[in-house]
Amino acid sequence: MHREAVTIRVIPMVLDSEQMKKIVAEAAVEEYVKDGMVVGLGTGSTAYYAIKKVGELVANGYDLKCVATSVRTEEIALSCGIEMVPLNDVKKIDVTIDGADEIDPQLQLIKGMGGALLREKIVAAATVKEIIIADESKIVEKLGTLSPLPVEVLQFGHVHTKFGLELQKCNAVLRMKDGAPFVTDGGNYIYDCRFDGIDNPFFLESRIDSMPGVVENGLFLNMAFEALICTSEGEVKHLSEGVKR
Ligand code: A5P
Repeated sequence: MHREAVTIRVIPMVLDSEQMKKIVAEAAVEEYVKDGMVVGLGTGSTAYYAIKKVGELVANGYDLKCVATSVRTEEIALSCGIEMVPLNDVKKIDVTIDGADEIDPQLQLIKGMGGALLREKIVAAATVKEIIIADESKIVEKLGTLSPLPVEVLQFGHVHTKFGLELQKCNAVLRMKDGAPFVTDGGNYIYDCRFDGIDNPFFLESRIDSMPGVVENGLFLNMAFEALICTSEGEVKHLSEGVKR
């Protein structure tokens, strides 16, 4: 009897971005958060899943003290039953798990599209192991190619601070929310600075930081210990090349 050949097509599973964020956030918490630690909780839609996972650990009996990188994160963490402590009450943070907007091959980052860059950077600087979690869309060859660089500025004279920022060959746009300038947890404004790629992030950071009116910039250079990246197939990759601390 003649049989027709049957072609079996294997359809690869492609995860959506929420699934990738959840997978990578939970993997980071499982790998890095140990009982008794002081843990920094990041801000953003990926860090959200890490906070939820930390909440599960606490519900299962882990004794953790956590430091928030934003008011929003603190609210979520408290709703999960996590004990929050002010940064000033701890000598150091053992591990912080936070998201990023761009990650380059040397583990240099742009952060701040969630508006929390100032507290995120202060927390990262107090952290022994800063762990970055992201889906693969955040990986870039060169910083400043996908995301603008958020720069937090004082409200006073912010238009003049913008003029200074634009001398660095970028287009600086005041971040808005509900028809008014977005105000950070620190009471400041943010300019999202669109570059055509950032050739020398260290040089740019020093130029921006020296401008009157600038409070902080979203370049996180030599701050990450490791990045965990989830691919659309659900594989979690570890990026630690270029770690300098
Ligand atoms: C918050 O200010 C940011 O630094 C976030 O960590 C960053 O924007 C990543 O956010 P998502 O995880 O929501 O993409």
